[in-house]
Amino acid sequence: MAVIRLPDLNQSITEPAALRGFLAPLGIQYDHWPVEGRVAATATSEEILLAYAPEIQALNARGGYITADVIDVTPDVPNLQTMLDRFNQEHTHAEDEVRFIVKGSGIFFVHPPSGPVFSIEVEAGDLINLPAGTKHWFDLCRERTIRAIRLFREKAGWTPTYTNDPIASSYEPLCLGPAYIPSGKARLTSGLNLA
Ligand SMILES: [Fe+2]
Repeated sequence: MAVIRLPDLNQSITEPAALRGFLAPLGIQYDHWPVEGRVAATATSEEILLAYAPEIQALNARGGYITADVIDVTPDVPNLQTMLDRFNQEHTHAEDEVRFIVKGSGIFFVHPPSGPVFSIEVEAGDLINLPAGTKHWFDLCRERTIRAIRLFREKAGWTPTYTNDPIASSYEPLCLGPAYIPSGKARLTSGLNLA
């Protein structure tokens, strides 16, 4: 299940109803779908899309998305850091950023119009929808692995528009347990940033 953290206030939110209640005023949708036994660990992208077709269709009906794909990031991806560096600075998109996490974990940071910056750590089973225009950035957790279904109205809309605000450098991508990244120095030197 997802975890929200408000680093400036030293607070966190883990209870699902509270989590949804916190995100709703910002138009951010959070959901958790069962993933246990849905697809094999070695499933192809096509098998994942097929397995989650009912959920994808429901989201498409709600959000007008017309295409779906699967992004598969592992530490072995060539030029991984270059790819991730596109998304670990504050940016917006012209369309919603919809991600359903099938495997691995990651951490979104959101910079709301008012109120403090907060992070949402997501893991397998978590669905998150950041509305178009939401200021955010994204990092991977330590295992540098994430597999996620993405939904689009049109893929061009997902190009990042950078705000050129260096705010992301003020926040460490803290994840839970073994995924914990201990310091901002590690973030800068060990290539743990993710998109
Ligand atoms: Fe983004």
